[in-house]
Amino acid sequence: MELVKRGFQVLKQIHSKLIHKYYQHLYRKRKLRTFLMGVGSLYLLRRLSQLVMLLTPSIRRNLLQRYGEESWVVVTGGSDGIGKEFCIQLAKQKFNIAIIGRNANKMDQVCLELQGFGVQTKFIVADFNNGYAVDFYNKIYEQLEYLDISILVNNVGAAEAGQFEQMKMEDSFMMFRVNALSTLMMTRILINKLQNRNKKSAVITISSGLAYLPSPLVSVYSGTKAFTNYFTQSLALTSKNTDFLSVTPLGVSTKMLGNRKGSNIVETNEFVKNVINDLRQGKTHSFGCYQHKQFINHLLWRNQNYRNKVKIQIGNNLMNCQMLKGNQKE
Ligand SMILES: NC(=O)c1ccc[n+]([C@@H]2O[C@H](COP(=O)([O-])OP(=O)(O)OC[C@H]3O[C@@H](n4cnc5c(N)ncnc54)[C@H](OP(=O)(O)O)[C@@H]3O)[C@@H](O)[C@H]2O)c1
Repeated sequence: MELVKRGFQVLKQIHSKLIHKYYQHLYRKRKLRTFLMGVGSLYLLRRLSQLVMLLTPSIRRNLLQRYGEESWVVVTGGSDGIGKEFCIQLAKQKFNIAIIGRNANKMDQVCLELQGFGVQTKFIVADFNNGYAVDFYNKIYEQLEYLDISILVNNVGAAEAGQFEQMKMEDSFMMFRVNALSTLMMTRILINKLQNRNKKSAVITISSGLAYLPSPLVSVYSGTKAFTNYFTQSLALTSKNTDFLSVTPLGVSTKMLGNRKGSNIVETNEFVKNVINDLRQGKTHSFGCYQHKQFINHLLWRNQNYRNKVKIQIGNNLMNCQMLKGNQKE
């Protein structure tokens, strides 16, 4: 009898343990389900808000309201390519435009086109390849001092490809001055003016995807673009009253790429539209193109060997573009 009683008790204990475990399992399952539902709703909320931002321009920041009516945008290298497209799209939004470049005739033509949008224009002739002394930038500042400048677009850039040791020293030095020094010094001469306005201001820097994918045959160019990207993104963290946006695209169809077209090459109007949208949304970094963002992010996750192969391929492609550019000039 005693034995049966004990057996019964053991069975009862096992049963209650099993029930307990079952409830614990149910509880964990519910917790997991609640957690997954929470993550799911957060994701959905984020996507929905992005959709609303995209569909309702009035909810997006109105650029002219944010940066001030009648204010001026300064675009370096605004006579062609991406810079010219920035001039056009921002003039359409009623910003006055000041272009800095080396070719007076080309800038004059662009200014005439922009005046068609009912805005004021101005151009300053300056070859950034001559910008190796502070005085060069002081002279530019003297011509901008009296304008209410709200946005600076650090766009000017030049790319020469080739084996580093065989490249002309002048070309390496030129890229350093035109790409890196121009961004540093233009931002420096205008920063106080931008920060002390009643309205917000902005600095957009056109760096390059090569800032993340330093490639052979374009080592100097990649280095200068890494500098401008880091410089702009670091200023974004502590900026007063000024939005900083660093832009790192891969191929954009301009004369820099011999006007090449292709599925991985974005058109200037689409690229600039995306950058302006990212500025509106208050981002500090943009790829200006969804495919380029995907491509770079994907590569950064791959192993080094694979990444290096792609970088070598990019270097070779840019070398080909340089040849194409050369042929087009002839
Ligand atoms: N295209 C791309 O695939 C690509 C990709 C990533 C980043 N980016 C960057 O985007 C920016 C714009 O390039 P883009 O493709 O529009 O090139 P682009 O069509 O060659 O235009 C460059 C602009 O800069 C001007 N410029 C060049 N050297 C100058 C100098 N020494 N002094 C004054 N102005 C000068 C040019 O003036 P002229 O009209 O007199 O030549 C032109 O207005 C550059 O910073 C470039 O590195 C381009």
